[in-house]
Amino acid sequence: MQEIKFYSGENIPLELHKVRIVQKLNLVPIERRLEALNEGGYNTFRLSTKDVFLDMLTDSGTNAMSDNQLAAMMQADDAYAGSQSFVRLQKAVEDVLGKKLLLPVHQGRAAENIISLAYVKKGSLVPMNYHFTTAMAHITQNGGKIAELLYDEAYKINSDHPFKGNMNIEKLDEVIRHHGANNIPFIRMEASTNLIGGQPFSVQNLRDVRALADQYGIRLVLDASLLGENAYMVLKREEEFKDSTMGEILKIMTGMADLVYFSARKLSSSRGGGMCTDSMTIYKELEALVPLYEGFLTYGGISIREIEAMAVGLYETLDESMICQSPSFIKYLVEALDAKGIPVIKPAGVLGAHVDAMQICAHIPQTEYPAGALAAALFLISGVRGMERGSISNQRDEYGNETYADMELLRLAVPRRVFTLSQIKYVEDRLNWLYQNRLLIGGLRFVYEPPVLRFFMGGLEPTTDWPQKLMAKFKEDFGESL
Ligand code: F0G
Repeated sequence: MQEIKFYSGENIPLELHKVRIVQKLNLVPIERRLEALNEGGYNTFRLSTKDVFLDMLTDSGTNAMSDNQLAAMMQADDAYAGSQSFVRLQKAVEDVLGKKLLLPVHQGRAAENIISLAYVKKGSLVPMNYHFTTAMAHITQNGGKIAELLYDEAYKINSDHPFKGNMNIEKLDEVIRHHGANNIPFIRMEASTNLIGGQPFSVQNLRDVRALADQYGIRLVLDASLLGENAYMVLKREEEFKDSTMGEILKIMTGMADLVYFSARKLSSSRGGGMCTDSMTIYKELEALVPLYEGFLTYGGISIREIEAMAVGLYETLDESMICQSPSFIKYLVEALDAKGIPVIKPAGVLGAHVDAMQICAHIPQTEYPAGALAAALFLISGVRGMERGSISNQRDEYGNETYADMELLRLAVPRRVFTLSQIKYVEDRLNWLYQNRLLIGGLRFVYEPPVLRFFMGGLEPTTDWPQKLMAKFKEDFGESL
């Protein structure tokens, strides 16, 4: 795709779409935002959208859909079995992801459930570049453990490494030798490694992983939920692929995996998910679990309309001008924050901007959840809802002890084609104010901690009256402004 330059020399991500349906937003007063935080246990998952201005919680199921996706939904062939909508989805999966056999599931974690049920048992170890919350939860629920094998560079906030999501090949070899290939049901590679800041891996790295998988006879499973953006980063950053198309890169990557699974909530701007493979053996190992947990094999718990939207959405991931939209807005936001000295993960990745709460809230100990506190504070002063990606999102170890996250991040998701540049500038402005007033932010403690995936519904409270003090300073500086 040709770059579009501005005469002024400014680097502005220009939208190659127009907005035809809009949803009105509310920006409620700060007093109401404080009440909302108290009602929601200082957990942004528990906020109601009527109190949220810019919803940057996630890109999952919130990417804007295209006119073609909505049109396709009108032609859905509703049938319990043998739907033509599923035939269209199978074709889209084969055309875009290059795999012939498809098992539909209602979302990404449903695939993780089925894959873990089929392959993970007590004593299993699953090496991966990095965990994702739900992937890890399903593996541990089935008695397995994970080994995270990134290079050290991946944990550096301020880096210019183009592929921080790369698997550490030397460590992978060591882990396989140490544990024995028999105890390793599969190696998991996650595209655009979510929890370290949406950082991609290179095709060369995937080739190296594939070579080890072949050497030891271990399956390679690719989490393709954010594969479109990973392919886009390969196009932009990996010399060998600078003249390739998105379609070529996608197929090269999926071609190396024995099994590919995805959350369609992310990959194709729809709902649903799927698992696909060319191996009839793998297909058969998973097949029986789909009707048991999801639904019949031609709908997998997904509405048929969404299956149509998924098929069209998959083809749209081949369009560079669509897939570049979120990463280019993220880059804009990351560079703007960085220019103001606000610590943020670099280089800019995909999915969202990831602000470093460990540095911003260096005065808050990890035991008091700096990233959760920063997420609550940003919502309070702006109505912007981000997501904690730090120790609250971690799970306790097998003995019930807290495990502190490698990184304490506030993720500000930028779903595809949803926000305007002035809204992104508002985020930058309010974060800058918060950064200047960061010492007013205090810690949090749990008052309700669910046993599994505690970050979703957990309830917390501030350790002091810091939210009131932060609100008072906001009112002092902004007067009557919302
Ligand atoms: N894998 C990755 C890399 C993901 O980012 C997600 C979801 C899943 C699997 C699970 O898919 O939600 O459809 O069940 N990520 C969302 C997020 C929840 O906000 O990052 P799901």
